[in-house]
Amino acid sequence: MKVMVVGGGGREHAIIKKIKENKNVDKIYALPGNGGISLDAECVDIGAKDIEKITAFAKENAIDFAIVAPDDPLVLGAVDALEEIGIKCFGPRKNAAIIEGSKVFSKNLMKKYGIPTAQYEVFDDAQKALEYIKTAPIPTVIKADGLALGKGVLICDTREKAIDGIKSIMLDKAFGESGNSIVIEEFLEGPEVSVLSFTDGETVIPMVSSMDHKRAKDNDEGLNTGGMGTIAPNPYYTDDVAKECMEKIFLPTIDAMNKEGRTFSGCLYFGLMLTKNGPKVIEYNCRFGDPETQVVLPLLESDLLDIMLKIADKDLKNASVKFSDGSACCVVVASEGYPESYEKGFEITMPSDKLIYCAGVKEDNGKLLSNGGRVLGVTETAPTLKDAIEKAYETTKKVTFKNAYYRKDIGQKALKALEV
Ligand code: AMP
Ligand code: GLY
Repeated sequence: MKVMVVGGGGREHAIIKKIKENKNVDKIYALPGNGGISLDAECVDIGAKDIEKITAFAKENAIDFAIVAPDDPLVLGAVDALEEIGIKCFGPRKNAAIIEGSKVFSKNLMKKYGIPTAQYEVFDDAQKALEYIKTAPIPTVIKADGLALGKGVLICDTREKAIDGIKSIMLDKAFGESGNSIVIEEFLEGPEVSVLSFTDGETVIPMVSSMDHKRAKDNDEGLNTGGMGTIAPNPYYTDDVAKECMEKIFLPTIDAMNKEGRTFSGCLYFGLMLTKNGPKVIEYNCRFGDPETQVVLPLLESDLLDIMLKIADKDLKNASVKFSDGSACCVVVASEGYPESYEKGFEITMPSDKLIYCAGVKEDNGKLLSNGGRVLGVTETAPTLKDAIEKAYETTKKVTFKNAYYRKDIGQKALKALEV
């Protein structure tokens, strides 16, 4: 079987390593992949957003199955285009990927179907937004409607910052057209949980829960990043919380999308906040999370490709989806200065017998060089979270490149939660 994976980061590397375990896989292509992924798949120099070239490549190479991993191609309709030429795919079609592609859409969906989320108002006129903010409760949260590389959310703890935020998104177009509309929403408090789920639009099977660490520096200080590390399972996500989320959030969301004629098939990511008034949706993503995938998939005991094929055949109910009882920790090794400016192009050395996912990595004359903000994700699993964290840091110490930077406290908040 020939499989094509669209994307080129740590998440895609984790997906590729997992599907390699399936004996029916003869060949994996990554579009574009990266220098580190090239150790596990054939990388093809086609960008993840270049849908025309992606479909042409799939046709020419008689691809049996395509996995579209990143948000951009999904929101642009990569799955629709591939399916049109008869290629079986994992991932939602464009009309369902909008659940991530438009925050206005997802907020209105939740309101219409009574799915718990922060209260909000939508604006497509900057003057009206500025008028509203004069009396809105502070802190407040301002979100650009469209995709903004994970940067379109502003938490504003003063009215002045909220005013500046509205101006920068709507008038200065800090996130381009993504800021034509904005959502201004209630600031929620509580532990955050990421729950990735498999769904074919009929059945929904949540994967093991996880916790991201979004800020650049220890103790959740510094700027927001794409994620500096993850652990799984998330100790705040107890069986009772899981049951409540299934009843009030997961099933109603799948149902709502069906009722809207936008059946969701693929991985639906629920970004949740466990508030004192119960779990609420902070965001939906139409794809696997990055770096959540780097801790979730190593704990998956079942065959990932089989699950994905069953989803494509709308037969998830007959798939075996089993996770280990153990824990996992992923420490992201970044280039010092990320998420702002940083230097790259430095030679990487790392142990070859460890689970290290390559994100911003390129290959040059047989050497691996740092090539981005988030460079590597070092994952270890163990029967307990404490051991998984310790092992992950031991392995991280064996990774070297000039200006390597990583947080030292991934998983510490989760460990504290386990103590109480
Ligand atoms: P996002 O870019 O949508 O992943 O949001 C980034 C982060 O902003 C989330 O992980 C939360 O920590 C925070 N956030 C988003 N919405 C809210 C909210 N309504 N209240 C408090 N924090 C929020
Ligand atoms: N780690 C958050 C995301 O994938 O959006």
